[in-house]
Amino acid sequence: WVLMATGRSPTNIAVIKYWGKRDEALILPVNDSISVTLDPDHLSATTTTVAVSPSFPSDRMWLNGKVLLHLSALLLPTFFRLLRIDAYAFMSPDCFLQGSGSACRSIYGGFVKWCMGKNNDGSDSIAVQLADEAHWNDLVIIIAVVSSKQKETSSTSGMRDSVETSPLLQYRAQTIVPERVLKMEEAIKSRNFESFARLTCADSNQFHAVCLDTSPPIFYMKDTSHRIISLVEKWNQSEGTPQVAYTFDAVPNAVLIAPNRKNSTLLLQKLLLGAGPKVVTDE
Ligand code: DP6
Repeated sequence: WVLMATGRSPTNIAVIKYWGKRDEALILPVNDSISVTLDPDHLSATTTTVAVSPSFPSDRMWLNGKVLLHLSALLLPTFFRLLRIDAYAFMSPDCFLQGSGSACRSIYGGFVKWCMGKNNDGSDSIAVQLADEAHWNDLVIIIAVVSSKQKETSSTSGMRDSVETSPLLQYRAQTIVPERVLKMEEAIKSRNFESFARLTCADSNQFHAVCLDTSPPIFYMKDTSHRIISLVEKWNQSEGTPQVAYTFDAVPNAVLIAPNRKNSTLLLQKLLLGAGPKVVTDE
C-alpha cells in the first residue's frame, strides 16, 4: 500500500511579531504572535506531497514536484510532532526547509494566533484560528518588493542574538506583547481598522527596534522601506486616522494593509509616485 497526500500551503504575515525562542530545539517562542494568512491562490502557494509505504526504502516528500526529503518511517511521526501539525495536514515549505516556527500559523486561513504556551514540552504551544478568511474580507494586502535578495541575517540566528543581547526584547515579550495581543484580538473581532492599524505599525516598529537593540545590530529595513513608512505615516496623520497599516518582517519588503479597495488604489498611486518600489501583487 501507498499512502499519499498533497497539500497547498499559504504564506502568513505577522501583525504581532514572533521574535525570540524560549526553547531552540522545540521552537517555542517567548511571546504570542498573530498573523493574517494570505490567499494561496494569489501568493506563494506551494504544493507538498508526502508518500508513506512499507515498500519504499524510505518515506518521501515532494515540494513543487521535486523530491525534497527521504525520511525513515520511524522519523516521520517525530518530525510532524516537532512541527506541531498533524501528518498530512497542509504544510508550509518553511517548515521543511528550516523548521520555521512562524509557519505553524499557516495551517489556518484568516487571522491566526500562535500561543506561546507554558509547558516545557511545547504541548500547549499551538496555533489557533481567531477568525476565518470571510470575517474581514474587505482588507486588501499589497506587498511592495524593496529587495528580492536573500535576507542577510536569517530569522533563526537574528532572534538568537536578540534573545542573548537585547534588553528591549525581554521588556517587549513580558510587558508589551501580552497587552497588545489582547487589543489586537479585540480589533480583529470588531473589525476596528483604526486600532488594528495602530497596533500593527507599532509592533512592526518595535520588532525592528529590538533588531537595532541587538548586538551586533541587525538591519532588515532599507532606505526605501523607511521612505514607505514616512509616506504612510504622513498620509495617516494628514487624515487624522489610519488609512493604511504597514508591517515589515525580517526583510526590507513592505506589507501594506488597506481597509478597502479605495484606499488600496490611493496607496498604489502614492507608492508609484513616491517611494518607487515594484508592486508585485494587489491582493
Ligand atoms: C519576523 O519563523 O522564520 O517573520 O522559527 O527561527 O525559523 P524560525 O523563525 P521564523 O521567524 C519569523 C519572524 C518574523 C515574525 C513573524 O513571522 O512572526
